[in-house]
Amino acid sequence: MARLAGKVALVTGAASGIGAAAARRLARDGAAVLLTDVDAAGEDVAAGIIAAGGRAGFCRHDVASPDDWATAVAAALAQFGRIDILVNNAGIAGGRHELISHDLAAWRQILSINLDGVFLGLRHAGPAMAAAGGGSVINISSILGKVGMGGAAAYCASKGGVTLLSKAAALEWAPLGIRVNSVHPGFIDTPLVNNALAGREDGNEVRVALMAAHPLARFGRPQEIGDAIAFLASDEAAFITGAELVVDGGYTAQ
Ligand SMILES: NC(=O)c1ccc[n+]([C@@H]2O[C@H](COP(=O)([O-])OP(=O)(O)OC[C@H]3O[C@@H](n4cnc5c(N)ncnc54)[C@H](O)[C@@H]3O)[C@@H](O)[C@H]2O)c1
Repeated sequence: MARLAGKVALVTGAASGIGAAAARRLARDGAAVLLTDVDAAGEDVAAGIIAAGGRAGFCRHDVASPDDWATAVAAALAQFGRIDILVNNAGIAGGRHELISHDLAAWRQILSINLDGVFLGLRHAGPAMAAAGGGSVINISSILGKVGMGGAAAYCASKGGVTLLSKAAALEWAPLGIRVNSVHPGFIDTPLVNNALAGREDGNEVRVALMAAHPLARFGRPQEIGDAIAFLASDEAAFITGAELVVDGGYTAQ
């Protein structure tokens, strides 16, 4: 019996990268998955899951919008009847900004998607999860929610916020049977990283230096994060809540 049989998952930012890999892995483990994203390419990822024998749907959804959250939660309930697993994954890198000249609009955009988006996910999907008798929330933070990086103050602030928002939610929702954990990927080979590097003249040198900063001497693969997410979603993680699961090739061990 697949370990997530009978469960329903909502995965944000599922059109690409880590979110798409997580959706595929959750579906392979037997969950029905509502993929959501601002990018309609999520439709193709859902179609691929269905073609492989899984259960999936797609809903267009901006995680910074409370109205879109209401629509996405309603879509999950209409299509699959319940929500057991919420993966708050959608996020943006938001570009490089020196603090000395940081634009407030850029700061707010990064915080609204990466941090407000997670809050809204908890706020809107939480009641449905409580009604289902409990479940598992997996919030995608980052190594940059644990250690800083120059030029990425808003991103670090957003991901540090996700780390502690997750712990506060874990405490508040333990009595409801809802576990809440954060996942902290190192640099993962996805469009988010590749587009940021492609936008820099010194992109190739930065890529080599970043890989070398991981003791395992490479970037992670999206499915390696998808595997960690599926573990936290499953009953194998039944006693894990308020935890930080670091999947970073050793980056933060130094
Ligand atoms: N790639 C990495 O190295 C890395 C490392 C640590 C953490 N993360 C985090 O993992 C998550 C996924 O990143 P990824 O690397 O797969 O990036 P990605 O760019 O491949 O995928 C992110 C997805 O989120 C979607 N998205 C962006 N803004 C959105 C919004 N407002 N509402 C809904 N969807 C939106 C995009 O359309 C895209 O499909 C992000 O939260 C990111 O911060 C990534």
